[in-house]
Amino acid sequence: MVQPVDGKDGGAVTDRPADEPALLPSLNPEGSPEAPPAEKSARRALVIHPILREELDDKRPPESRLEEAVGLTAAIELDVVAAECVRVTRPKPATLLGGGYLEEAAKRVAELGIGLVVVDHALSPVQQRNLERDLKTKVIDRTGLILEIFGARARTREGQLQVELAALTYQRSRLVRSWTHLERQRGGFGFLGGPGESQLEMDRRLIGDRIIKLKAELEEVRRTRGLHRKARERVPYPVVALVGYTNAGKSTLFNRMARADVFAKDLLFATLDPTMRSIVLPSGRKIILSDTVGFISDLPHHLVEAFRATLEEVLAADIILHVRDAAHPDSEAQKRDVETVLAELGIEAETDPRVVEVLNKIDKLPPLDRETLVRQSRRPDGLVAVSALTGDGLESLFNVLDRRMVAGRDVVKVSVPVSDGAAMAWLYAKGEVTEREDDDDYAHLTVALEPADVARFRDRFPACSVTETPPLAERVAPDRQAQAS
Ligand code: GTP
Repeated sequence: MVQPVDGKDGGAVTDRPADEPALLPSLNPEGSPEAPPAEKSARRALVIHPILREELDDKRPPESRLEEAVGLTAAIELDVVAAECVRVTRPKPATLLGGGYLEEAAKRVAELGIGLVVVDHALSPVQQRNLERDLKTKVIDRTGLILEIFGARARTREGQLQVELAALTYQRSRLVRSWTHLERQRGGFGFLGGPGESQLEMDRRLIGDRIIKLKAELEEVRRTRGLHRKARERVPYPVVALVGYTNAGKSTLFNRMARADVFAKDLLFATLDPTMRSIVLPSGRKIILSDTVGFISDLPHHLVEAFRATLEEVLAADIILHVRDAAHPDSEAQKRDVETVLAELGIEAETDPRVVEVLNKIDKLPPLDRETLVRQSRRPDGLVAVSALTGDGLESLFNVLDRRMVAGRDVVKVSVPVSDGAAMAWLYAKGEVTEREDDDDYAHLTVALEPADVARFRDRFPACSVTETPPLAERVAPDRQAQAS
């Protein structure tokens, strides 16, 4: 009945009524107060997606929703040992799920050593507490799960404050036991305060005080945000941000792109921030690749602000790669969800030249569909088909990035006498120097420049020789092939 799952993509489904009479005797009919989960099982999670009748006409099937919840749970480094859909014909005010189902689930929780049950639905504080009592383990609902993910991913100070604020507001009403043991283990962003501070010790008044402080701090951060943006503008390389629906494969693509780049080094941000990596494109251009938090449909209203704040980096990106799961049955709906959020951030995906659509997971498509996609992706229309898993299409993606970066610019080779500091400074200021080789007399540079600037440079520095290079696409493809072989 419960299917073990072995990965983010493998959500198993058991479609069974939740309020059927118990099939198995309860392990503890008295319902003793919850015992702390064994340390060894703290990472083992059971994911339950309740199917409520009024939600059945929803455009996404329950199986997809379960799969998504499994993906989200795995994203915070929990081991999903079992996952199932549960039909709830009469939601119980006290527990949401039916008593028969809960007895059976409690037995399984004990057997499988499960330390956390994720209920993929909103739970009231009372329901959460009752479920913890009945299942004798920690229970979190969908909002709690999403907050955990945002907390782990928020990078900017504003994002972190925003998530902490949302988390405290959410928790003020519940004051149930925190899973701080997990917080500590994964060293993530603990929205409940410093080490040693547990939610149980925090009464409403303390949380209230913290909320007031957070709001003041947020105000201050927003006031000085202009300064931060300036700091980001000083980032020496263009930023390419990966966005996409949760489970679309952003992180896999991020790692694949960083690995495919033979020059990949842990530069600059890598040690500071694991979601940013500096890579070198075939043209020699360095870029910063930035992974973001996955988009999620039906975000609870009070989490929308926190979510937007975690995406602030995207606004400053030079190129936005919208990574899509091309093999997912809800691919189109997911695309619309992502584009809606982007639009709220002020980015119109259809028209913004920064957005490139990356159709991922083409290895899962039938060959004919795959071929059609690959053919489409050769059109310079901002669409690339790839498989982050196999590396298929990555070369095209790199080439698209290169072309986008230099779109509208001429790439020229310039030889500057080493004594001519002014010409050198001019080129570095106006253009993008991607290669440089010095000999005794000359510095030989490859530079991307606006066509008008090429003419200006020729006029102003006649002692420097300037040669046009072949179109970029012709130059980069063989390079990349050579690297691959
Ligand atoms: P969030 O962190 O939830 O936003 O997800 P994500 O977009 O970062 O997705 P992630 O990279 O974690 O991948 C999700 C699942 O899809 C994992 O099980 C990957 O192994 C799988 N996956 C990613 N890319 C591919 C692909 O090209 N082909 C196949 N078959 N699976 C892939």
